[in-house]
This record gives sequence, structure tokens and C-alpha cells, in this order.
Amino acid sequence: MKISIFGSGYVGLVQAAIFADVGHRVICMDVDQARVERLRNCDIPFFEPGLADIVRAAQANGLLSFTTDAREAVQASDYLFICVGTPSAADGSADMSYVMDVADTIARLMSSRKVVVTKSTVPVGTADAIKAHIAGALQRQGRSIPFAVASNPEFLKEGSAVKDAQSPDRIIVGAESPEVIDEFRHMYQAFNRNHEKLMAMDPRSAEMTKYAANAMLATKISFMNEMANIAESVGADVELVRRGMGSDPRIGYQFIYPGCGYGGSCFPKDVRALKHLATENQRSAAILTAVHDTNQRQKNRLSELLMGRMGADLTGKTVAVWGLAFKPNTDDMREAPSRYLMEGLWSCGGKVQAYDPQANAACADLYGEREDLELTDTKEAALEGASALVICTEWKAFWSPDFEHIKATLAQPLIFDGRNLYNPAHMEELGIEYFGIGRGRSIQQPAT
Ligand code: UDX
Repeated sequence: MKISIFGSGYVGLVQAAIFADVGHRVICMDVDQARVERLRNCDIPFFEPGLADIVRAAQANGLLSFTTDAREAVQASDYLFICVGTPSAADGSADMSYVMDVADTIARLMSSRKVVVTKSTVPVGTADAIKAHIAGALQRQGRSIPFAVASNPEFLKEGSAVKDAQSPDRIIVGAESPEVIDEFRHMYQAFNRNHEKLMAMDPRSAEMTKYAANAMLATKISFMNEMANIAESVGADVELVRRGMGSDPRIGYQFIYPGCGYGGSCFPKDVRALKHLATENQRSAAILTAVHDTNQRQKNRLSELLMGRMGADLTGKTVAVWGLAFKPNTDDMREAPSRYLMEGLWSCGGKVQAYDPQANAACADLYGEREDLELTDTKEAALEGASALVICTEWKAFWSPDFEHIKATLAQPLIFDGRNLYNPAHMEELGIEYFGIGRGRSIQQPAT
């Protein structure tokens, strides 16, 4: 099938690559000339395991191409996927200007039947708005060309996006006509093999499914973070509580890890946007508000713990930070807990020595050169001369470090662990003072 993808960011590029990988002919269009040049050279602008190999192979066999030419992208394909960003606007709503710009371009340049698909996470009603927009534009131009609009939200996780796209849990298609649903069935045949994964519904329900799924996952995390903070105050260990809860199949083990808050490009933005949608429609957003507020507080939890122990004046003190990305296997620092921690430390006069296996460059871009930030090439180098170690991301490389080396290198053996990687009893045996999230520590060992 002939597919064009508008927007070569995370969602667009992964989708383009995996469609081309199974034999569709895919054109990926982006307005950013430099980005297109890089992609033509298989230089992927972000870190995503497995993606570069697929892009390289698909370009080599002619199934995937990159262009800045919108006319080519509109006219050469039957299926036009809108995969551009929908960032948070100042009021928390999703900024739809990029999506509507693409709809405009399509209306201007189309000359045969098109199916226009939204893959970006968009507010409920966007497919209808795009339909009205294109129909109005065609009418003004005095042209009558058939088209359909569908919603086909993505459920990719950064770091496993290729795998997620190749083996989706579900393929949600929101479209008005059975013919369009059939076209999607054909398009996704290669990814719909073991059992029926395609769920057909109306566009509004499809759009809402994506928001509701992300909001539910964010809710699980904020709920567990609240449990962790209660556990800490009453001397319980939330890691044991988590296991005890997760064993109930109605609750399940997934997505109930407490930590230093959720970050990334999706959860914070989508919770805000759904909250905005609720209030705009005079509906309660009480749960969404609590989920968001709890998460904002949790992102400051590591700073609070550290200052509770070390005091609020960190002048002359260096803190080692392991992990800058909002989660492992990505170099993405959008809304990452590490940023809240570092900014908290800086505001108290502290210096940061940080290491991340992939996100050092993103961190340098974000903060530029500053005296109170040093990015190191190894996790060991980050420890040198530091008064404490703080862990913000659970990269595999941090799971079993050489604790004797940590003890010998830090000015004092003190670890604040935002991901509960280590066993408090083991830390005690090693003589390391250890603060996790929700591990009963605060009542066992009052701040000194
Ligand atoms: C998420 C959704 O999982 C995905 O389906 C959607 O398409 C986009 O948003 P992503 O943002 O890539 O994907 O990351 P995810 O793995 O879901 O983690 C999000 C955040 O939640 C991370 O900061 C992670 O550390 C945190 N998290 C996750 C927890 O704190 N506890 C958990 O139990 C799980």
C-alpha cells in the first residue's frame, strides 16, 4: 500500500520504518530539511534500539524515502498519516496547530481519494474537525474529491517502540465506514497475526481510548507513589506492599512501581490535555488533577529526602547523579525527574556530577555550559568527590554496581535511590546509608 507519514519524530519515524519493513511503500515527509538529510543518511535524531537498522534496510530496498516536498507526499500516496507533535499549550490543552497545518496542506494538494489518519495523540473530536476543515477547503476551491478521516492512535513506549509497533497489544481504528476499516485490516495484516487485535470503533472513541489508557497508567503510578509516601511514614516497605498487591490478578504487577515520578513526552502532556477536555465539557477532573499534582510533588521527593539528610545549604557540596533520561533505553529528558532534582540542588548552591548512558548530550543541550554541572563519561567518575549518590533512572548498568567502590569514592557512603534498585538490609550490612522511596526509612533513621 502507498503510505505517507507527515512528521518524522518519534511516532512518525517508527511507524514509517515498520510499515516499510513489511513491504508498504512509505514516504516520510518533514518540513525540517536538516532532519530529512540526516534521515536519508540513516542518522536517527534520537536513541531508539533497533530503529536505525530497519530505516537503513528499508531505504536500501527503496520502500522508505524521506522528503520535504509536501506535494509529493500528498499525491503519491493513498493513506496520509498525521504524526506531528501536539505539545501542551499554556492552558494545558493540546496545541493542534501542527496537526491542522498538515490538514491544510493535504486539502490544498490532494487530487485523488485519500484516507487521512491521525496517529498523534489528539483531543476527542479532532478527526471530525479535520474532516470539516478539508471538506470546507475543497468546497472553497470548487473541487470535489472523496476522502475519509480515521483515528489510529499509537501505543509505543520509548525504548521499546520498534518492538511495540511490530507486536501491538491492539490496533485501534476509529473510522466511519466499514470500507475504511477493511483497508486498515489490510494495512496492518503483518502485525495482526496470532489473534485478532484490530478493534474498530468510531473516531471519537478511538481518540478517547488513547487518552484514557495513558491517564489510567499515570493514575497507577501516582497511586503507588502516594502509597509509598504513606508507607515511609508508617514504617512499612512499599516494595513488599507492591508485591502483595500485584499478586491479585485484578491489580497485576505492571506499572505499580513507585519512584521519583513519571516523565516523558506522553503521560504529563496527556493527563493535562484530558483534564482540560474534562473541564471544558463541565465534567469533573478530580482524579486527573490529583494524578498530576501527586506526580509534581513526587518529582521533588528526591530533593526533599536529600535536603532532609544533608540540610538545605549545599554550598560547596557535590552530588553524584546516576540517570538523566526519564526512563531507561532512551535519551529523552522531557519532564524527567532528574531535572527537578538537579534544579533543586542548584537552587541550594549544590554542584551536580551526572552520568547517563545515553542522555548526557541531551542534558548538555538543555542546560548548556554551567559551573555547577559536570557530565561524566562513566558512572564511577560521577562519584569522585561527591557527598552522596542519587539515582534517577533505572538503567541496567546501575542495578549491581561495585558497592565497595561507591563507598570508597563518595565522601560519605550515602545513597538516595529514586527507583528502589537496592535492598535496604543489604545496604545496611555494607554500611551504606540508604534512602529509597517508601521503604520505611524515615522513621527508622531520623535525619541527622
Ligand atoms: C507511555 C505509554 O506507556 C505508551 O503506551 C504511550 O504510547 C506513550 O506513553 P513512555 O512515555 O515511552 O510510554 O514510557 P513508559 O514506559 O510508559 O514510562 C512512563 C513513565 O512512567 C516513566 O517516567 C517511568 O519511569 C514511569 N513509571 C512507569 C513509573 O514510575 N512506574 C511504573 O511502574 C511504570
